[in-house]
Amino acid sequence: MSSYQQIYQQSIEDPDGFWAAAADQLHWYKKWDRVIDMQAKPVPRWFEGGEINTCYNAVDRHVESGLGDQTAIIYDSPITNQQTKISYAELLDQVSRFAGVLQKHGAGKGDRVIIYMPMIPEAAIAMLACARIGAIHSVVFGGFAANELATRIDDAKPVIIVSASCGIEPGRVVKYKPLLDEAIDVATHKVSRCILKARPQAEAGLIDGRDFDWDTEIDPAEPVDCVPVASTDPLYILYTSGTTGQPKGVIRDNGGHAVAMHWTMKNIYNVDTGDVYWAASDVGWVVGHSYIVYAPLLKGCTTIMYEGKPVGTPDPGAFWRVINEHQVRVLFTAPTAFRAIKKEDPEGHYLKNYDLSCMDALFLAGERCDPDTLFWARDKLQKPVVDHWWQTETGWAIASNPLGIEPMEIKPGSPTVSMPGYDVQVLSEEGEPMPAGEMGNIVIKLPMPPSCLPSLWGNDQRFIDSYLSKYEGYYLTGDAGYKDEDGYLWIMSRTDDVINVAGHRLSTGAMEEVLSGHEDIAECAVIGVADALKGQMPLGLLVLKAGIDRPEEEIVKELVQRVRDQIGPVAAFKMAKIVKRLPKTRSGKILRGTMVSIADGKEWKMPATIDDPAILNEITEALQSLGYAK
Ligand code: COA
Ligand code: AMP
Repeated sequence: MSSYQQIYQQSIEDPDGFWAAAADQLHWYKKWDRVIDMQAKPVPRWFEGGEINTCYNAVDRHVESGLGDQTAIIYDSPITNQQTKISYAELLDQVSRFAGVLQKHGAGKGDRVIIYMPMIPEAAIAMLACARIGAIHSVVFGGFAANELATRIDDAKPVIIVSASCGIEPGRVVKYKPLLDEAIDVATHKVSRCILKARPQAEAGLIDGRDFDWDTEIDPAEPVDCVPVASTDPLYILYTSGTTGQPKGVIRDNGGHAVAMHWTMKNIYNVDTGDVYWAASDVGWVVGHSYIVYAPLLKGCTTIMYEGKPVGTPDPGAFWRVINEHQVRVLFTAPTAFRAIKKEDPEGHYLKNYDLSCMDALFLAGERCDPDTLFWARDKLQKPVVDHWWQTETGWAIASNPLGIEPMEIKPGSPTVSMPGYDVQVLSEEGEPMPAGEMGNIVIKLPMPPSCLPSLWGNDQRFIDSYLSKYEGYYLTGDAGYKDEDGYLWIMSRTDDVINVAGHRLSTGAMEEVLSGHEDIAECAVIGVADALKGQMPLGLLVLKAGIDRPEEEIVKELVQRVRDQIGPVAAFKMAKIVKRLPKTRSGKILRGTMVSIADGKEWKMPATIDDPAILNEITEALQSLGYAK
């Protein structure tokens, strides 16, 4: 048996022994009573009875063991021409004093704190400060509009919002304060405290009595100590797209999360304490939570917070500069970032300016990695390129090539094999295991390993309905695909209305809700069509109310703006077309899957249940007019 097989087998046969050994690597105030509580509902829970503090393990522990002078965070911001290095000792000072600020303003154990911030070190400091006092953070991505922020405020009911005066996108300053004010205005739950980091690019404009300035507050603040929390107490809530406009609040436990994060750094990414690890993502996404903040710091690595893009800040050599300048061992990003670089520098000319011998491997996730992108990256970098598959719900890779255990053969298009703890299976609609090579619903047999969500915030029923009810004893991933003869997984598509745009998970259902709210729209469908750069792009098909006779261009423009205003620029909704009718089944279900196949020029079969086949001709023409269905 290879070492991967041995370790995988052990994790499935003896999860208690396997994860207890991993947990022993961390500091616990009180050891767990049971490694896994199989009776817990709705799903088994990890390290029940144990007491831990995630911030202590990510920061204090390293200072106490003599790593205080090592750089914890490198802030590299080509967009503002700034660079800062923060040592573990400095991080401890900042985090423990900001924890004091949070306490002073009323946040304590179990209270929620929303963090709406750009990619600046203060975002990570705020997250760790919450963890320090047992408050539950919920980071909201800066590319979301006020309305999305308001939805999260109403669901999480925070006592404090931590924000900044602005984020910076190429060519524009994104002022956060008006968005924040609007969100607080719109939300039913009233937030009485905001703490804002003022950046020179925009003024915060503080509201007296409600808003406080980060610097003024932190300077005189008294440091506070770590508070022990139960292993099963939530560390954070991270909202992610589901099938409706109401996002799902994924909960992450303190104990299981810390154990899994720490374990992955060596076993999957093959990095050690002291190594420089770079996840080029954003703290607003799960990749940012796990691999910009928690996992590298739990391991005692140096992490990079990069405020820039793969291209245009200033050129397609930006990633190579960062790798070389900071001696990065592992880079983790989304395939779309590499497609962006490849588009601007197909020959890889910019690579010639940098020595990348420090780099061991590139990891990609967030969307399916098309083999072309993988080949290009491998050819240009001359390094292993590892596609790995995971979700906000799990917090770490379900399938990967475990470089720290045993590098395995790479099959382009496959994220390799199930990671320890994940019993991944492929089932038919009826729940039968699919033979090798045949597509089905990808599920994970319970129990899932540490870090996977125990529920959705305040909504056990939605958790059960969305993930557990289709097949008893299994978690439904929402992805479809197959396992090949060698046990490699192939993740081919989503089975719900979630699409993936530039590695960002978005809900077409949420966009449809926004479009339907426009006074001229009778009904609509948003589908994700293939895009060479972003993987997928949303496209709207619109049916107008009877009697509406306005120019299409005008209506589409209003709708594009409406999605931008209500969901945010990150939705990247730019294409829509008016049609007379939408194709439906006889029972009235819109045939979105068929439209996607037509748009992408794939083979498709006329659905047996279609109400009126002639509608598809009109849809094909509409899609062709937008450059699809060729
Ligand atoms: N705050 C405000 N607006 C934001 C934002 C933020 N944090 N992030 C993105 N946006 C805006 C962009 O400016 C863009 O606005 P525009 O329509 O006015 O141009 C819009 O949201 C869409 O953003 P995006 O889809 O990211 O497109 P892009 O053209 O700006 O960049 C890539 C494309 C591929 C370069 C970029 O998406 C990227 O680097 N992605 C890979 C890394 C990544 O973040 N992965 C996520 C999980 S691993
Ligand atoms: P998110 O929760 O934003 O991380 O998105 C998770 C979803 O992105 C998964 O359910 C998949 O649909 C998709 N995804 C992420 N990584 C991969 C991958 N390596 N291959 C295929 N799909 C992926």
